[in-house]
Amino acid sequence: MTIKKGIILAAGKATRLHPTSLAFGKQLMAVYDKPMIYYPLATLMAAGIRDVLIIVTPRDRKLFETLLGDGSQYGINISYEEQHKQDGIAGAFIIGEKFVGGDTVCLVLGDNFFHGPEFDSIINLAARSVDGATIFCHHVAEPSAYGVAVLDGDNRVTQLVEKPKELISNWVATGLYFYDNQAVNVAKTLKPSARNELEITDLNIKYLEQGKLNAVRLDASYRWFDLGTHQNIHDAAEFIRQNEASTGRKIGCIDEAAYRAGFIDAAQVRANAEKIGNPAYANYLRKVADTVTP
Ligand code: G1P
Repeated sequence: MTIKKGIILAAGKATRLHPTSLAFGKQLMAVYDKPMIYYPLATLMAAGIRDVLIIVTPRDRKLFETLLGDGSQYGINISYEEQHKQDGIAGAFIIGEKFVGGDTVCLVLGDNFFHGPEFDSIINLAARSVDGATIFCHHVAEPSAYGVAVLDGDNRVTQLVEKPKELISNWVATGLYFYDNQAVNVAKTLKPSARNELEITDLNIKYLEQGKLNAVRLDASYRWFDLGTHQNIHDAAEFIRQNEASTGRKIGCIDEAAYRAGFIDAAQVRANAEKIGNPAYANYLRKVADTVTP
């Protein structure tokens, strides 16, 4: 099954970023030279997804609409839904029920950054072969702040625990998830956790119990940042700055991602460049249009 729809969750309180995030959401903040949400949106595009729902707070809705519009300049459809109370990541499927319809769906957290060898091809392939659910696991030294997965030799998840006190594995569930069309129904069966949230880990455990939770391993050669702290935003920005300077290629440039995915043509990339006042960014887009063959 191929993933058809993508949800970006961008409605958290971001208390760890106060006072920076008091007036607007973190997904609108800069991570080096782009708004944070560009990175997960480029990830969805690399996966081949053209129908995108962004879940926002009522406070931020206009700002996201100003930034991304209806997505037509990127050859995609973007719609917006408001989350009025923070009831957990899995709550995204209840808000997004109509949007998901009978389709397969990807959920990405609006503060998750991914980069690494052939990452775009890996997610594109994974998006075309979903059977049950797929989570993307990163190998980290300190897993205790995350959902932690024990994986077998066939990349099936055999155990999944949210923020375990003891070390059970170094593979953590990142904020990128692919599901068959049962995710909405499963989300509706969940009960709030001790922190009063519908946990994405609980939803994933339901798939695990049916032997339908697969993992893609992103080893130490991949960079993954959960951009929920100032330190991580700073570290990611520095990584992006250095990487872009040494490779000459931007990370998370959604105009380029749309072009490489075949969603827009070179003329549209040039038209998008015209609207950007920053000459270095606009020239980069023109160079992409002139030199890249998708
Ligand atoms: C959430 C999930 C956790 C996952 C993490 C990735 O944690 O519950 O399983 O590993 O996102 O960013 P939270 O940020 O809600 O603590």
